[in-house]
Amino acid sequence: MDNLESATHATEATGQILSTAASVVTTPELGSIYFNVQPWALTISDNLRATFAFDREGRPMSCFLDGGNYRFGLSGDILLKVAVPASPKLRRILSDDEGTRLRATVHAHMVRIVAGGAHALTDELRGWLAQILSWDEDRALINRRMFQSTYLPISIVPPDQYRALVLQVTEGCSWNRCTFCSFYRDRRFRVKSPAALQDHIHQVKALLGRGLGLRRSIFLGDANALIVPQPRLRELLQVIRAELPAESQRLYAFLDIFGADQKTTDEYAELHACGVRRVYIGLESGDEAVFTLLNKPGSPQQCVATVERMKAAGIHVGVILLAGVGGESLAQPHVAQSLAALAAMGLDAGDLVYISPLIVPDDGEYAQRARELGTAPLTPAALAAQLEELKAGARAATHGRARVALYHIEEWLY
Ligand SMILES: C[S@@+](CC[C@H](N)C(=O)[O-])C[C@H]1O[C@@H](n2cnc3c(N)ncnc32)[C@H](O)[C@@H]1O
Ligand code: SF4
Repeated sequence: MDNLESATHATEATGQILSTAASVVTTPELGSIYFNVQPWALTISDNLRATFAFDREGRPMSCFLDGGNYRFGLSGDILLKVAVPASPKLRRILSDDEGTRLRATVHAHMVRIVAGGAHALTDELRGWLAQILSWDEDRALINRRMFQSTYLPISIVPPDQYRALVLQVTEGCSWNRCTFCSFYRDRRFRVKSPAALQDHIHQVKALLGRGLGLRRSIFLGDANALIVPQPRLRELLQVIRAELPAESQRLYAFLDIFGADQKTTDEYAELHACGVRRVYIGLESGDEAVFTLLNKPGSPQQCVATVERMKAAGIHVGVILLAGVGGESLAQPHVAQSLAALAAMGLDAGDLVYISPLIVPDDGEYAQRARELGTAPLTPAALAAQLEELKAGARAATHGRARVALYHIEEWLY
């Protein structure tokens, strides 16, 4: 016997009445299919064995299938994560063929649900499923092309911003010479004009469609968007305010230490009033010798002073430390000085500390400089121990007030 249980209530967002409902459809052919309709997303669980999530356009966002966790990027790339007992998690981007096969599998699940649940599905669920089924290979390809004409590759954002709406207010990195960082080597630094930013936002909106509703914050790309001189930045933020809904106007951005030091407390206060909530700044190490090896602009002391200034203006910070940097010889001062710098920043609730395990090629500039200095890379066991030491130390240095988390650059996908 068909069985449909449903609990529905209405919620208001951006002037539209949107429904939120959890329901289960049970039939002899299907077993039990669980639906969770959120204002801007739908989650479907097929007999609690496979789970799928879609945005309001029906675009796949994630799925859990046969032990694999898949994240679908807006770019069209798909990240697979698999837990492996007693080993590091497996993470990789699917090949094009694998992506095609996965999309076909998701499609087949949905076709089966539509066919088997014909009598039991509500009109609303039927509407969602029709949207989902419109995502065939052609639509996936169109989406990928639109992404490529809208964005330069989005090299990285902080982990708490993976679901943000990314706007490339600037492109590239104004410094681009840190020995360990290759995120923006493929492009020259450029600040968009207000008109170019407006065009970019129009393209972003066309790409996302109703999927825009799921993006509850805005991340200003690329590497150091807030480095833009204040008068131009003011104009750019006005464009964003005019173009995007008020409830998404929580702004986040990276900023390098040198760039951050160029702004006054009053300028930060103005940015806070414009919606800037948190700035992510790569301290990487509090130790001078390690810092020199990295060729970062600025200094650890400058980072501490700048963070104090941002916080005085009401802006939270996300401070990033590298684990394993400086190798064996500099491990002790790296940990001690990094934790001392964190302790001096007076971080509290709303602030974050991220710890990023260093991942560099053996023939890259960082590895070459480290060899010249005579410091060997940490063994995997020593790296794991340093990660734990930095995490525990960061919690102690911030009196348990700031959130401390891992930042894994290989888990990244937009
Ligand atoms: C876009 S970057 C830096 C943001 C900002 N431009 C700055 O310099 O502070 C974001 C973070 O990614 C991390 N990162 C960059 N390259 C890395 C690498 N090779 N291995 C691990 N983490 C890396 C660093 O911790 C860096 O602060
Ligand atoms: S770490 Fe920051 S400043 Fe250095 S090259 Fe990368 S993005 Fe630029």
